[in-house]
Amino acid sequence: MEMTPYKRSIKDYIVVDRQQGLFRLNAEVYKDPYLFDLEMKKIFHEGWVYLAHESQLKVPNDYFTTYIGDTPIILVKTEDERIIGLINRCRHRGALVCRQEKGNSKFFRCPYHGWTYSNYGKLVGIPDKEGYPEHFDIENLGLIRIPKLVNYYGFIFGSLSSKAPEFEDYIGEAGKLLRLIALKFPGGIEVLKGIHKYGMQVNWKLAFENAVDHYHAPFVHESYFEAVGHEPGKRIDLRSKDLSLYLGKGHLVDLMFRDYEVYEIDEKGIPWYLKDNNNLNEIEKKWAAKITFHLGIFPNVIIFDVASPGPTIRVIRPVTVDYTEVYAYYYLPKNAPREYKERELRASLRFYGPAGMGTPDDVEVLKLAMEGYNVKDEKGKYNDLSRGTHRDFKDHEILELVNAEMIGHGTDDTGYRGFYKWWAKVIFNEELSI
Ligand code: FES
Ligand SMILES: [Fe+2]
Repeated sequence: MEMTPYKRSIKDYIVVDRQQGLFRLNAEVYKDPYLFDLEMKKIFHEGWVYLAHESQLKVPNDYFTTYIGDTPIILVKTEDERIIGLINRCRHRGALVCRQEKGNSKFFRCPYHGWTYSNYGKLVGIPDKEGYPEHFDIENLGLIRIPKLVNYYGFIFGSLSSKAPEFEDYIGEAGKLLRLIALKFPGGIEVLKGIHKYGMQVNWKLAFENAVDHYHAPFVHESYFEAVGHEPGKRIDLRSKDLSLYLGKGHLVDLMFRDYEVYEIDEKGIPWYLKDNNNLNEIEKKWAAKITFHLGIFPNVIIFDVASPGPTIRVIRPVTVDYTEVYAYYYLPKNAPREYKERELRASLRFYGPAGMGTPDDVEVLKLAMEGYNVKDEKGKYNDLSRGTHRDFKDHEILELVNAEMIGHGTDDTGYRGFYKWWAKVIFNEELSI
């Protein structure tokens, strides 16, 4: 007898008609709890996820807690300044051994019965140890160390699976944009203390999509654009030369040309931070002066790179099929002039912050979408992701910066089609021809 009740295939979820230029997604992908379990296993447990930025762990014994999917994790900066990842679960009866978001400690004492672990994970203390047999093997009862952890230009990623692909293979072309974010400011970037956390009654993929959605901005955020002095629909020109890139491996970019004034630039259009920048090569410098982007890294992080509003790292944490937590971290260039920092932080808070003018509107509209997905009508249950199927650009000059697999207009669904193509491959091991 078939053990798993889940016998669906990709055809149940995605309908592609290349001739007609159609790409349709069954909205069950946002509602199906079996699918959610499968995603948790294949995407979050077996793959790589973003965890933190190195500036969140500054000195030895600093720790920072987060999640890989449903699994609580503690990141620790050890005495010898390495960053390690431990599963935040007591080996006695399973309680979280660390309840804080961050701090500095050499030990974690479980709040339940007091078992105590060093910040390397070793079990170092059991209250009333005599109650256990003489050769009780405490050596093997340390916190479990996560098998894969990589610090890539300051961005820390990890995997629960020793069989996960090599990191370079996972990050692919998205690595080039991470490099650009990390190196374009002299002195690098720094994540500020504090997190804005909010919950949304939406599926995690919808929260991810919304963060790289160019098309919605003039409508959902009309009041914001009016308030900051732009006519509705004008601030983001739907017919601008902005791009939607699919980078492969599920990673996508909402890329904007910097045709509005955000930074101090000189008469040649060079921003202050690129003037004496020897970290980047000429091609990187050229593009760093021209573009700003939202980089969506599969499956759980979107980096809003000094757009205005920006710069923000948004981490998506799936909790259940229809509930997602979002963590927003604000970052700034470490050595920027004070006025620059102040202005960028204000811009981020004004839009993304809990009292900002952007985020609450997004949360509201995503809830409406989730409500629409209750419709089970055979025709009416599909979402349309066909925008731009007739105009994927092949030879754009952006290819000198990143070797994008597909390039569309900023408002096109190009990135999403790539995202779901990758999703289908990970979940169903099927190659979608789009
Ligand atoms: S659950 Fe941690 S000491 Fe009992
Ligand atoms: Fe939005």
